[in-house]
Amino acid sequence: MQMSVSAQTASCGATVSGLDLRRNLSPGLVSDLRLVWLKFQVLAFPDQDLSLDDLERFALTLGDFGVDPYFAAVPGHPHIAQVRREAGETTPIFAETWHSDWSFLEHPPTATLLYGNTIPPVGGDTLFANQYAAWEALPAATRERLQDKQGVHSARRGYARDGLYGERDAGRSMAIRYSDDAMATQLHPIARKHSETGRTALFVSPGYTIGIDGMDDAEAGRLLQELFTHQTRSEFVYRHRWSAGMLLMWDNRCLLHAATGGYDGHARLLHRITVAERDALLQRSQ
Ligand code: SIN
Repeated sequence: MQMSVSAQTASCGATVSGLDLRRNLSPGLVSDLRLVWLKFQVLAFPDQDLSLDDLERFALTLGDFGVDPYFAAVPGHPHIAQVRREAGETTPIFAETWHSDWSFLEHPPTATLLYGNTIPPVGGDTLFANQYAAWEALPAATRERLQDKQGVHSARRGYARDGLYGERDAGRSMAIRYSDDAMATQLHPIARKHSETGRTALFVSPGYTIGIDGMDDAEAGRLLQELFTHQTRSEFVYRHRWSAGMLLMWDNRCLLHAATGGYDGHARLLHRITVAERDALLQRSQ
């Protein structure tokens, strides 16, 4: 199999063709693909025809399965969740706030894979924002100020009892399970060094960052608000248009993403799987 890569004109993203992801990829091809992914951060593989087993097998070429709290898995596939919305559904769009997947965990997932099964004819794009570029575009004084700071991450705004997907979230077809565990907090460096490229990325998000360690709430709130506005400026953003049978693979260490609506009256169904950080695997096995 010969892969061909075509870069998007945006600050991240590329389309990969020539690969049939139902087949086993050679170790050489997997490592070439990883380099392409590290370069472009989000890769789209159109015109695939993947079963859930294929999706799992491909995910395992990238690393072990990640931990997915707050989703009920697809029966028989404990690591796969459905991102789902029915045609007549009126609940808020899932994941419309910018975020990096599960950044409130001690070891957030490296990668997320999302496979499009039912794609609406309009709307439902996914947005990505390049956080290397966001970090590099900050004024030097702000980078200096943030250098040793840690962000406080929590799932509470979404997944706590009183969160967006909590007990008042009636009528949602997606199998989200809120929990009191979502009140927990986890610190991560705001200037996050990517574990493979060594580059620094801005690692906060309006979805999951609720404070800055050691800074009072008012000051942290103002600074975070500035960062949230900065980090999703249009020059950092790639808008991904889906088609059925497309697999998307993105790097949570250096990207934020957000779902979009605009497809009322149409169903949308994607299957999602996360891949664990390699360091996390080492620590788990020690
Ligand atoms: C997600 O954040 O996992 C979902 C993105 C989307 O539905 O476009």
